Amino acid sequence: MTKNIAVIEGDGIGIEITAEAVRVLKKIESKYNHTFNFHYVEMGGCAIDKYGTALPDFSLDVCRKADAVLLGAVGGPKWDDPTAKVRPEQGLLALRAGLECFANIRPAKVYKPLADASPLKASIIGGGFDIIVVRELTGGIYFGESGRDEKGAFDTERYSMEEVERIARVAFKIAGGRRRVLHSVDKANVLESSRLWRETVARVSKEYPGIEVINMLVDNAAMQLVRNPSQFDVILTSNMFGDILSDEASQITGSIGMLASASVGGKTGLYEPIHGSAPDIAGKNIANPIAAILSAAMMLDMSFGMKEEANAIDRAVNSVLSDGYRTADIAGEGVAAVSTSEMGKMICERI
Ligand code: IPM
Ligand code: MG
Repeated sequence: MTKNIAVIEGDGIGIEITAEAVRVLKKIESKYNHTFNFHYVEMGGCAIDKYGTALPDFSLDVCRKADAVLLGAVGGPKWDDPTAKVRPEQGLLALRAGLECFANIRPAKVYKPLADASPLKASIIGGGFDIIVVRELTGGIYFGESGRDEKGAFDTERYSMEEVERIARVAFKIAGGRRRVLHSVDKANVLESSRLWRETVARVSKEYPGIEVINMLVDNAAMQLVRNPSQFDVILTSNMFGDILSDEASQITGSIGMLASASVGGKTGLYEPIHGSAPDIAGKNIANPIAAILSAAMMLDMSFGMKEEANAIDRAVNSVLSDGYRTADIAGEGVAAVSTSEMGKMICERI
């Protein structure tokens, strides 16, 4: 197959980790006889410096026309002034909206060779942890009306029934292929938008008999995640709550450098690690490229239907980890870490 892939390296470690993901994709290309055309696109802080905007129109255009978008990470201290008019994160939000990627799929699981990495006690994590957060990505408070007046500032959480229905369907489908339990997380005891969310999920659930829906308030969900994480399998939630809970879920695995994500629903899927640009370690060739590499694997699977190729990457990652190779973030005390590029190369060798 021939596929056009828009590549956004972004800022900070985004550059190094994306290079390894591309290295892996090139290996897949030659091994499985595909042609991947990589189109490099600027977005984030680097685009602000050059063009004065985080996502220039021509960048979005290349992404829209591509078969999928692979993204590293954006942002850094240089652009961190919260009062600035242009910020790297605006690029990310504009890209998500511009690609109409309303469904953000964030798997968080403990990799067997890294079972000790979780900060939770063995007695709590013992039941295992392998969940998927399905986060609504192009609505809610992130995109609602906001502003300031003399007295203060406001942001608006607004969801249409259609927005809730379509994200709920994505979550039900995923749950159908797993444990058939869906936790829908909201704040329906306080928020009207959450009450609409709950009613809508209940209505959509009729299309998916046999999948159990458990409604949970977000504060309780945050607590349950660290109290008894294995009760969860698929979590469906809004943009804001999903942002928060997916970070929490990632920490339960103990290795945020390992977690990939997919944003889908529009014509072009967007694939990115869930971690940020980690400016403190940027340019040192020590960042963990596995989240970026697994994001590329998700792209192969979900956008290109290349299941076998995606599995080959997954197996290679597991094999490298089983043999004890670790980048610094997951090395633990007394273990010699391998570099970003060494990790990428080793994974390639095992594909
Ligand atoms: C994420 C990030 C973004 C978000 C920021 C950088 C805008 O935290 O992808 O989770 O809040 O969606
Ligand atoms: Mg976040």
